[in-house]
Amino acid sequence: MKKILTIYYSRDGENYWNGEIRTLAEGNTKIAAEYIQEAVGGDIFRVETEKDYPEKYLDCIEAAKKELREHARPQLRKWPEDLDSYDIIFIGYPNWWGTLPMVMYNLLEKSPLKGKTVIPFCTNEGSGMGSSERALGLLCRGCRILPGLSVKGCETQQRKEEIQNWAKESVQK
Ligand SMILES: Cc1cc2nc3c(=O)[nH]c(=O)nc-3n(C[C@H](O)[C@H](O)[C@H](O)COP(=O)(O)O)c2cc1C
Repeated sequence: MKKILTIYYSRDGENYWNGEIRTLAEGNTKIAAEYIQEAVGGDIFRVETEKDYPEKYLDCIEAAKKELREHARPQLRKWPEDLDSYDIIFIGYPNWWGTLPMVMYNLLEKSPLKGKTVIPFCTNEGSGMGSSERALGLLCRGCRILPGLSVKGCETQQRKEEIQNWAKESVQK
């Protein structure tokens, strides 16, 4: 049996949601990640940054833009354990300025996943996966990277079945 891990980053709080700023009790990527784990089983790991991002959406996008420009590598509060034991890793993240949040760069640069199957999923407000798949190609060298799934954040709950079917089909590939 293949061992599966779903790793994701998601930020609760104020966000841009269906054309307006809203406070989300649970981030969109977290919801999608939980659907995936429910569909395919395995373990789930939430990436958290040591330093919180600003609560206000507009402040957060500025902080994230600065990190992107500076190639920042925010620290994780906790690191996933025993990555070596997994065969399939789903990697979930919101699209931040067209790519993965910088904390995911930090995680993936320091966690060689060579030889594993990597399956990305990305929530966003319309830019799809942006350049994140290209970035993953560089960050996950030597991995088999399957086609990712892009979900518009505000549609996450209504697309539950589609997300779960995609996840189940992906692990069969
Ligand atoms: C810092 C920041 C940057 C973002 N940049 C983009 C973007 O470039 N393109 C886009 O479509 N959505 C962008 N968004 C919207 C998020 O990708 C979207 O709301 C996502 O579903 C949030 O996931 P989460 O709730 O799991 O954090 C951005 C949101 C934030 C907070």
